[in-house]
Amino acid sequence: MKEEIKKDGLSAGLAVIAERIRSRRTTKLFHKRKISEQLIKDAVEVARWAPNHHLTEPWHFYLLGPQMVTEAAELIATIIRENKEDEHLANFKQESALAMPGWLLVTCKRSEDLLRQQEDYASCCCAVQNLSLYLSEAGVAMKWTTGDITRDPRLFELMGIDFDDQFVVGLFWYGYPRSLPKQSRKNVDEILTETY
Ligand SMILES: Cc1cc2nc3c(=O)[nH]c(=O)nc-3n(C[C@H](O)[C@H](O)[C@H](O)COP(=O)(O)O)c2cc1C
Repeated sequence: MKEEIKKDGLSAGLAVIAERIRSRRTTKLFHKRKISEQLIKDAVEVARWAPNHHLTEPWHFYLLGPQMVTEAAELIATIIRENKEDEHLANFKQESALAMPGWLLVTCKRSEDLLRQQEDYASCCCAVQNLSLYLSEAGVAMKWTTGDITRDPRLFELMGIDFDDQFVVGLFWYGYPRSLPKQSRKNVDEILTETY
């Protein structure tokens, strides 16, 4: 099989997956073109294969429809008006939000057990990365946001989510990117310590 061709000890498949992981980028600059709902459903199907301790499957994915997007964008503006009293910024953020071709909200189940909640959140983040890499392979980029709206009880009310049961891991805007920014990371020898 093609994937099994070895090159310098590294299979072609490994090189492909490494490059996919490296080249996934956050952006909020999208073309207007909508993304098929089926692609997002397929990405959610892949996302749920993330590791999760005690098999809690703590995630939930909410795909927002046009009416919900309108109301959520309005809420973003309302929150800015309340917190910053900046009408211009409120309108700008509302318009920017409305221009996002796709909206996905990911929540995590709350737990009174702190360790459980920490592990569940970790699992949700793994699931988000699965989703993100799958979409990236399909040419779709995302922006993960944890802005004020993601903690506002009015969002939960709007979406019919029980605030006492779930918290928001992130609101994800996605679409076909107009451009992708450059990114860098520290060298491996700065972040890897080998012990005996
Ligand atoms: C938990 C989490 C929360 C984030 N929240 C925001 C956010 O509120 N606003 C934002 O612009 N980016 C946010 N990001 C995206 C990061 O800024 C982005 O991943 C980082 O700049 C690295 O870029 P890359 O994703 O292209 O590697 C968040 C990322 C994570 C993992």
